[in-house]
Amino acid sequence: MSPLHITRTLPEDATEAALRADVLSGLTATPKRLPPKWFYDARGSELFERITELPEYYPTRAEREILATRSGEIAAASGARTLVELGSGSSEKTRHLLDALPALAAYIPVDVSESALAQAGRALVEERPGLGVHALIADFTAPLTLPTTPGPRLVAFLGGTIGNLLPAERARFLASVRALLAPGDGLLLGTDLVKDEGVLVRAYDDAAGVTAAFNRNVLTVINRELGADFDPEAFEHVALWDAGREWIEMRLRSRTAQTVKVPALSLAVDFAAGEELRTEVSAKFRKEGVTAELAAAGLELTHWWTDAPGRFALSLSVV
Ligand code: AVJ
Repeated sequence: MSPLHITRTLPEDATEAALRADVLSGLTATPKRLPPKWFYDARGSELFERITELPEYYPTRAEREILATRSGEIAAASGARTLVELGSGSSEKTRHLLDALPALAAYIPVDVSESALAQAGRALVEERPGLGVHALIADFTAPLTLPTTPGPRLVAFLGGTIGNLLPAERARFLASVRALLAPGDGLLLGTDLVKDEGVLVRAYDDAAGVTAAFNRNVLTVINRELGADFDPEAFEHVALWDAGREWIEMRLRSRTAQTVKVPALSLAVDFAAGEELRTEVSAKFRKEGVTAELAAAGLELTHWWTDAPGRFALSLSVV
């Protein structure tokens, strides 16, 4: 049974230092903001798994439908012998691809969560004795050094998570992915698509309030990690569609004028009544825009697959 390799390129204290920097800069900015990466502690990850099962939250089901029906075409078009998955998480989405790539010699899941990588990696090496699994504990937005494995290489970035990046961040990210690819390699990219505003907003403001709890949880993360005294219930969950930028924004709106202390940063943060803290953008795409953003990074979009209702897309692009 081929061994499971797990490599940590993310320094142990990187997370603590990055959280401190993000909270300090974000809570002293105007308007206040936090990066969505801090949602995903154990409770945030569990809340996100519940979100993916909500009736209003269609992206996960839509992408799963594409992978279930199109993985054969994706495999034939890519011919990959190495699959790199950025932000792999449970690798649950990837199984369709792994099943469809008969010649696959190596799978390189990349995630910040060592536990998710270890758990998924152990299962995969059990199920697929011939597959070399090289897990990387890394932040996919940072430059990556990949192990040497057989080509061609297919990099997969699924789930629509690229929508969390602002346009300039997306350009930098796509350029860094391009730098990982050689002629014959490809990028498989999941993108949620522009659609009816009501459908979009409900997907981020579900009737059961799971997304509201997910959003507020970032305040609990800051309380626990930095000793802050946020009262999550003192903030209202907001989800809105920015039609100009074509992205969903999640925000936390202060119900009253209040001051929050963050002792680890020697910081006191004043919120005016009604003041909003932006916690996430989730950009929605059109085929033309994805084609242009990929081309700007030196990637040519060759295939575009959507779910039957056309809600979500997987694109394959090549160097
Ligand atoms: C995991 C980043 C793709 O943006 O739709 C779900 C996270 N936020 N509900 C998304 C999320 C609110 C999700 N991504």
